[in-house]
Formats: sequence, C-alpha cells, structure tokens
Amino acid sequence: MRNFEIYNPTYFVFGRDTQGRTGELVKRFGGSKVLIHYGGGSVVRSGLLRQVEESLDAAGIAHVSLGGVQPNPRSGLVYEGIDICKREGIDFLLGIGGGSAIDSAKAIAAGAVFDGDFWDIWMGEAPYANALPLGCVLTLPATGTEGSNSSVITNEKLHLKRGSSSDFNRPRFAILNPELTYTLPAWHTACGVADIMAHIIERYFTNTPDVDVSDRLCESVLQTVIKYAPVCLHEPDNYEARAAVMWAGTLAHNGQLGVGRQEDWSSHQMGHELSALYDSTHGATLSVLIPHWLRYCLPGHEMREAQFAVRVFDCEMDFEHPERTALEGIERLSAFWKSLGLPLTFAELGAKEEDIPLMAKKCKRNYGTHTGAFRPLLEEDVAAIYHMCCEK
Ligand code: NZQ
Ligand code: ZN
Repeated sequence: MRNFEIYNPTYFVFGRDTQGRTGELVKRFGGSKVLIHYGGGSVVRSGLLRQVEESLDAAGIAHVSLGGVQPNPRSGLVYEGIDICKREGIDFLLGIGGGSAIDSAKAIAAGAVFDGDFWDIWMGEAPYANALPLGCVLTLPATGTEGSNSSVITNEKLHLKRGSSSDFNRPRFAILNPELTYTLPAWHTACGVADIMAHIIERYFTNTPDVDVSDRLCESVLQTVIKYAPVCLHEPDNYEARAAVMWAGTLAHNGQLGVGRQEDWSSHQMGHELSALYDSTHGATLSVLIPHWLRYCLPGHEMREAQFAVRVFDCEMDFEHPERTALEGIERLSAFWKSLGLPLTFAELGAKEEDIPLMAKKCKRNYGTHTGAFRPLLEEDVAAIYHMCCEK
C-alpha cells in the first residue's frame, strides 16, 4: 500500500424526508444568502425545489434560484451563476438534483470568488485557491459528486469536457433521500449504476501491490450494486434497493476506495471525449468503453482481472489459464450492463468511427504523457480501444 492522505469533510444526512433539513444545515455551515442551482425541471415536478425553499424560509435564509443545468453541464450557465453570486452577494451554493446540477454549482462556487475565468481553473491553468461553501440535495445516485472532490464541466464553445479535482469541491453537507430517486427513468437509473461501478473499477485495476483492504471494500460495494440495480429497475419505489445503490454511489467515489493505490481513470477520460462530441450520457460511455479497455489491458494483468472475475462475478478460477477466467468476468460484466439496458458499442451510442482520430488526440493525458496507469495509454492505444468499441 502507498502512503496516502485523505480529507473527507462532508456531513451526510441520509434517509426519508431529510430534504426538510436543508435550511438548518445551510445555517449550521454558515450560509445566509443562497443560490439554489438545479437542472431542467425534475426538481420542480417532484416538488423538491418547493420543499427546499420552504426549509430555507423556515430557517430565515434568503435565496435566489437558477435552473436550467443540462446533462453534461455547460460553462455558459456557470458564468451566469457566477454573475448572480457577485450581484446578489451570495455566500452559499446549493446544488439540487443530479451530478450535473451539483457539478455546475461547484464551478459557480469556485468562479464566484476567483478574479479571473473559472475555466482556467478547470483546465488546470490557474490555481484553485478558494470557493464559496456548498451543500447539495442529491436525486440521482451515480457520480458520487455529493462526496467527491470533483466537478466536470463542458465548454460548449471549445467542445471540451474537463474535470477539476480539489478539496474546495467537496460539499459541506449532502442530503440523500432514496425516495427522491423513485422518479428516475430506467435509463438514468442504469447509467447511474454503470457510473458507480466504473468509479470502483477505475480504482480496482491498479498495479499497486498489497491493497487487500480496499480490494475487499471495492468488491463488496460492487456486489451490492449488482444485487440491487435490477431491483431498482423492476421496482422503482423499493426503498431498500434505492437506498443501497444511493449509498454505494457515495462510497464509490468519495475517495475511500482508492486510498493507498494508484488509480487509472482512462475510461473516464475516453468517455468524456464521447460526451464532448455527441453529448452522450456519462454512464453509457463507460458501459461501452470499460469491457473493451479491460480486454486491451489483459496481457500482463491476467491475475488481477481474473481476481475481479472470481470475486465479483463468481467465475471459477482456471489456474492454468487465468486469462480465460478474466475474459469470462468481462463477459459477465457486459452481460450485466446489457441486462440493465445499457449500450456496449459505438453504434448503440451513436458514435462514429471517423471521429476516432480526433477523440484520441484530444483525450486528456491524466498521467503526464499517458492516459491511465494500469496500462499507460498513448494516443494510438486510445484509438485502438475506440476501434474495439466499433466491432460488435
Ligand atoms: O435536469 P433534470 O430535469 O433535473 O433531469 C435530470 C437529467 O435529465 C434527470 N434526473 C435527475 N434526478 C432525477 C431525474 N429525473 C427524474 N427523477 C430524478 N430523481 O436525470 C438526467 C441526468 O442528470 P445528470 O445530473 O446529468 O446525471 P448524473 O448525475 O449522472 O451527472 C452526470 C454528470 O456528472 C459528471 C458526468 O461527467 C456528467 O457530466 N461526473 C461528475 C463527477 C464528480 N463530480 O465527481 C464524477 C463522474 O465521474 C462524472 O464525470
Ligand atoms: Zn463517472
């Protein structure tokens, strides 16, 4: 295990009716004038926006609202939010909804106290030195943004989707009520599940030896998601299934499962290029990419991939041919995602083979000259994986 540091300050409030605690929590964490930031209308239809406003009113906290965040949140609305914060003297951000609304709120929180263009911070070209405090009410278990140090924004003019990782992005509090996820369409439930699993997979496939504690934690959270995801689809208002997936989503990406190990993140970088070009749903890019990425990484990593197959998907270990066990695990992962209605190919995603050179070139090198660390990928490796996604 490697040396590590972890800062995980978010105060989580989990359970039924917890959105009624919003005002009390904003007050506790020092807010007196709030910008409520939300998406395309699900929180209006569900009544969540009204409940949050009532809770703030009851706590005597002033508020203004800015809706309209699109999936793959755009920088244009972030700039609008930053202007509102400066004009209105906002001192606290509240993101309510899915990851896109919360990520957009995080970027506004950063930009509101930055004397420059927030996008430079997201590009890693300006220091991230401060942000307004932020809380959130989550309605879509997927991104883990409710406990993560990340925020991912799309610059629609540059066709770039880029994430910023900083402890300033960590929410002061997060409210998680599984009942708020009952209204999720099957597609977004499934894409959320793929994202949760991907956050664990990006950490699980590592070359760092002796990481048993986090290996076992990763495996148990994955198995829990595999158990409950189909229940969420067949019984959308099954509280226990929704609760299990919701908390799994937080655990998958609040940093705990990656401590002491080198993480990969190449599937996310490759997926962001697909979203930047086609506006693809994040989780769907991952269900397409990850099985092919695992196949591409197999040479030299047979035992770790076989371990995943055995411990997560109950495959039988073939000690003479561990690569066969590994491939069987990849097949079971693909079959599971397919059973949830997720895509496995570029064709299903609407991605085009002719765009591969552009995407491979743009793909972020998150490890210096390479993308990923499990098998460090050069531009031609990224292109090869994209081509594999066209095959079937
Ligand atoms: O916009 P509204 O009307 O709210 O509808 C949303 C949206 O259409 C809908 N929705 C959300 N909760 C709902 C609901 N509909 C009915 N009932 C509910 N309870 O779902 C749609 C998708 O929402 P979105 O927020 O885009 O999805 P998600 O939570 O998956 O967020 C995806 C974004 O987060 C980024 C992704 O790249 C993508 O941009 N990520 C953020 C991370 C982070 N900050 O740590 C890490 C992830 O790896 C990821 O990159
Ligand atoms: Zn993700």
